[in-house]
Amino acid sequence: MKIAIINGPNLNLLGKRETDIYGNMSFDKYMEELKAQYPQVSFHYYQSNIEGELVNEIQRIGFEYDGIILNPAAYTHTSVAIGDAIAAIKTPVVEVHISNVHAREDFRKLSHVSGKSVGSIFGLGLKGYELALQYLLSRK
Ligand code: DQA
Repeated sequence: MKIAIINGPNLNLLGKRETDIYGNMSFDKYMEELKAQYPQVSFHYYQSNIEGELVNEIQRIGFEYDGIILNPAAYTHTSVAIGDAIAAIKTPVVEVHISNVHAREDFRKLSHVSGKSVGSIFGLGLKGYELALQYLLSRK
C-alpha cells in the first residue's frame, strides 16, 4: 500500500508554530511514529511552501499511489489550482486540517479541496492524519 502525505505552507514549522493551535510535535517526529506503527505501508512525505510545487507533486504521484493525505494549509482557502489537480488525478485524496477550521476566522471556512476529496477531517490534531490513513487502508 503506497500512501503519500502532502503538507502545504508553514507546516514545516509544526512544533514551533502557534503551538496553542497546532501542538508541540514536529511533523518529522509524527512521521517516525506513524511509520513505526504502520510498517506495512510504504509512505512518501512531501512538504512545500509553494503552490505550484504542490500541484506538481499531486500530479506526479496522483496516478500511482493508493491514497493521498493532503493538508494544503492556507492554500486550502485560496487555491483553485490545487482543487483542479485533485479532480484531475486517479488517487483518492483525504483532506486533513489539524485545527478546527470551522471554529476559526470566516476565511478558513472556504475549502477548494473538500468538494474534490473523498472526505475531510478537521480539528482532531495530528491524529487526523492517522485517521485518514486508517480510512485509506480500509478501502483496499
Ligand atoms: C491548517 C488550517 C489552515 O487554515 C491554516 O492556514 C494552516 C493549517 C490546519 O491544519 O489546521 O496553515 O490547514
